[in-house]
Amino acid sequence: MASREVEVLYTKEQVDARVTDLARQIEADFPDGEMVVVGVLKGSFIFMSDLVRRIKRPLACDFVRISSYEHDHNTGIVRMEFDMTQPVKGKDVLLVEDIVDSGKTLRYILRHMETKNPRKLKVCTLLYKEMGTDSRRLCDYIGFEVPKRFVVGYGLDSQGLYRSLPYVGAFK
Ligand code: IMP
Ligand code: MG
Repeated sequence: MASREVEVLYTKEQVDARVTDLARQIEADFPDGEMVVVGVLKGSFIFMSDLVRRIKRPLACDFVRISSYEHDHNTGIVRMEFDMTQPVKGKDVLLVEDIVDSGKTLRYILRHMETKNPRKLKVCTLLYKEMGTDSRRLCDYIGFEVPKRFVVGYGLDSQGLYRSLPYVGAFK
């Protein structure tokens, strides 16, 4: 399969430094309590694996699997393909996303998570795309703000590919 040329937006070193900053902020905001980090699959898996290894406190990891995109276009239909496996009632939850674009997926997951009655619920997204949907206020931690382009790498895909790029880029 031919691969398209990708322009680097954030290098591996820039991503690395930013993930460390985020981990420091998160540690300060989650000083005690039982912490569960919930990754939204598949896009968050690389970011989450780097992030959790830098948060110096006990934590549990869990995942939800959401789909909404087909062929790089948002279908507008958000589906939960599988849910997390542990109760989070009374626990402190950090939800980890790859990117908040229209914010539809995040809103859906937040509504779902709130029904589980966590003590605290915060959102960390690697990337944020300003689409005029007032989603920024839902994000407690944002790695980088990206332009309105389709981005790939460091977990983000285009039709299943490009997730393993060590940087964040956009198609030329
Ligand atoms: P939203 O519901 O429009 O905010 O989109 C959320 C999900 O769509 C993200 O978790 C990504 O998996 C995917 N997505 C949105 N924009 C991009 C992009 O530019 N590149 C890759 N995936 C994206
Ligand atoms: Mg995706």
